[in-house]
Amino acid sequence: MADWRITLDPTLRRRNFHHIGRISPIAPVASRERTASMSSLPTIAFTKFAEPKRGSVVVLAGDGRSIGDRAASSDPQQVLTRAFGISDFNAGLATLVDVLAPAGGKLDRIVALGVGKPAELDEYAWFRLGGTIGSQFRKAADVTVIVDVRDRDISAEEAASLAGGILLRAYSFDKYKTKKGTDGKDDSAPRFTMMVAKPAAVKKAFASIETTIAGVALARDLVNEPANMLGPREFGEKAKELEKLGVEVRILDEKAMRKLGMGALLGVAQGSVRPPCMAVMQWRGGRKGEAPVAFVGKGVVFDTGGNSIKPASGMEDMRGDVGGAAAVVGAMHALAARKARANVVGIIGCVENMVDGNAQRPGDIVTSMSGQTIEVLNTDAEGRLVLADAMWYCQQEFKPKVMIDLATLTGAIIVALGQHYAGLFSNDDGLADQLIAAGRATRERVWRMPLGPEYDKLIDSKNADMKNIGGRYGGAISAAQFLQRFVKDTPWAHLDIAGTAMGAPSTEISPSWATGFGVRLLDRFVRDNFEA
Ligand code: BES
Ligand code: MN
Ligand code: ZN
Repeated sequence: MADWRITLDPTLRRRNFHHIGRISPIAPVASRERTASMSSLPTIAFTKFAEPKRGSVVVLAGDGRSIGDRAASSDPQQVLTRAFGISDFNAGLATLVDVLAPAGGKLDRIVALGVGKPAELDEYAWFRLGGTIGSQFRKAADVTVIVDVRDRDISAEEAASLAGGILLRAYSFDKYKTKKGTDGKDDSAPRFTMMVAKPAAVKKAFASIETTIAGVALARDLVNEPANMLGPREFGEKAKELEKLGVEVRILDEKAMRKLGMGALLGVAQGSVRPPCMAVMQWRGGRKGEAPVAFVGKGVVFDTGGNSIKPASGMEDMRGDVGGAAAVVGAMHALAARKARANVVGIIGCVENMVDGNAQRPGDIVTSMSGQTIEVLNTDAEGRLVLADAMWYCQQEFKPKVMIDLATLTGAIIVALGQHYAGLFSNDDGLADQLIAAGRATRERVWRMPLGPEYDKLIDSKNADMKNIGGRYGGAISAAQFLQRFVKDTPWAHLDIAGTAMGAPSTEISPSWATGFGVRLLDRFVRDNFEA
């Protein structure tokens, strides 16, 4: 029998209505109430030292396989001494010996975790150790971690970092898995008891770390989320949710942006049925009237390249082209949740770069909010167009003390630096040094790249004030030069995170495709330089 329902070809529907304005996009089919990715988070409690009576136990072993007195006095000692005797475990950092169902005991499992040379343990090492513990216990279990090392005091912050590593490692993006089990969803989560010298102090330190980690998880979610579920408007709504933490959030819609003259950003957006969205987040934790620190993020929810279309293979990764915006939203979350004593604004430019009858063409000339004209020679160099207007708006509106933009801006930065450092470009040596220091401390490392008039010349255009590409060589640098043309006399830094925000090799504390890169870096940058 014939099916009499009328179906509209969505492409037709789109084209026919362009002259009378935009139609609203088709609502995502999957429900938006899906549970958060960290729904099966472990619980972590802190108590004083006592003899663990059941479940699993983790003890820390320093070089020479020495175990702290707290652990040695309890049951695991005998079992571990025997296990050490028949293994080649050398207690190197994040290596382990695992004893399952030790005979005769009440415990299920005993793990000795190597910490290397105790004196050399820095913050990131504690995170790594926590991550390693986290990787060992993914299902429901009672796990006691005896936070004690021979001949070394462990501070409250260090113990908290250990717990933080467990949480960072526990992240997984499985909300779209409908089946449980291997490679599927796992709703059961382990319960950790951290035995420490001063539980109250550790608890307090952990509360602050936990908020940063929530920001990291949020950023990871925003990058992992597929583009059909997270368009520009939905991304803006995610930013809007920060209001519950006391962040003031303003949304600029397409009309507002047109009024402001954001022709560069709007040119990118015009190929998508989903209109652009700019979110302006303000956290006022500092002195009244004091100029803010500003973060600006590229939020291209999907980057097909536009008419300068990308190859099909690997294009799905461009759902992660929101890495900069995700880091900004995640950092704002972290700062607000721990009530940072600083004024900070976060601005994200959210657009979708699509192929369409109304999409921007190579050769188009657009006028940016700054008044400068841009010849768009490659529609795939869209991030800089979005940032040009977002950065200009940021300076006009807030006159920030410093401005840092983050963007998955160029493939060229991945060629230059690989996936372990983000590219750092800056017009201010002091600011660059602050970011490098924050990067060292958090292990979200940045490497300074050059700027200069010779590179700036590469983007001069015959037909407009500038063009949006600079040729084959030094592509990450000419992209940064482009951005610099939209910087007034503000101390500014640009972080090209194309290689570090997603797809980077996993680490002890970063198990997912999306890394959340930038959240811990920015949080630390504010903490170390702008809080009283
Ligand atoms: N979003 C891409 C950059 C990118 C590439 C991010 C790979 C993450 C992984 C950006 O919009 C882009 O397409 N850049 C072009 C610029 C070129 C056309 C000048 C690039 O890098 O090829
Ligand atoms: Mn692109
Ligand atoms: Zn892009």
